[in-house]
Amino acid sequence: MWPSCFLSGQSASKTAKLSPNENSNVGLVAGVSIWGDDMSEHARWQGRYAVPDYIFGEEPNAFLAAQKHLLPKSGKALAVADGEARNGVWLAQQGLDVTSIDFSSNAQDKARALAKKRGVNITLECVDVHAWPYPENTFDVVVEVFTQFSTPAERELKWDGMIRTLKPGGLLLLEGYTQKQLEYKTGGPKELERLYTRDMLEKGFAKLSRFEIKEYDTHMSEGAGHAGMAAVIDLIGTK
Ligand SMILES: C[S@@+](CC[C@H](N)C(=O)[O-])C[C@H]1O[C@@H](n2cnc3c(N)ncnc32)[C@H](O)[C@@H]1O
Repeated sequence: MWPSCFLSGQSASKTAKLSPNENSNVGLVAGVSIWGDDMSEHARWQGRYAVPDYIFGEEPNAFLAAQKHLLPKSGKALAVADGEARNGVWLAQQGLDVTSIDFSSNAQDKARALAKKRGVNITLECVDVHAWPYPENTFDVVVEVFTQFSTPAERELKWDGMIRTLKPGGLLLLEGYTQKQLEYKTGGPKELERLYTRDMLEKGFAKLSRFEIKEYDTHMSEGAGHAGMAAVIDLIGTK
């Protein structure tokens, strides 16, 4: 089975791009990914998003919104695995030219509707975030919020790409769950290797010129997908 975003015709605002990444082990045929083991994960997300509600809500992630003062007034922003684009749309409302990447066409249909409702334009690319090219020195801001689906090897590829595509001086904002989240059971992966630690972030983002990391417990109310007490870790970095 192929991801539906690659099977259906693409509208102008829905560019399906899968650019071969030489470092990626994802198979590519005629520019289209053979999803292999990722197929069931793709079907799972398509299913989760096939409901009228915005499963993570329509408002931005609380950590992201709290960093509003750090955002440039204009420039390009990349939202990685942005789903229904609550974060991408909010970044566009802050004056940024947003590219929102995710592999779920169902999520991106809702992202398009949310952007229209808020009166902003965003570029949606229906792609595998592990196979995206992350063009060098392109974005002023890169945001990654709750994207703990990657294996350790995929995560390295993705985070290296996020650093590469950030312009020198650009801002990187990331939030994820820590291993303590297993106690709360209010979202996130079950696999220990996918939950973040301070050490993991320090190694993964060592190439940034500076960063700060905070770990804390918080009450989340971000749609049905993130509701209740959660153990999170945030990174605010500059390239
Ligand atoms: C927990 S959701 C977070 C969505 C969004 N960042 C937010 O905070 O609302 C994880 C997202 O990752 C996407 N995803 C999972 N694996 C992916 C992959 N390999 N490539 C692109 N997107 C992927 C899913 O479709 C989903 O939208």
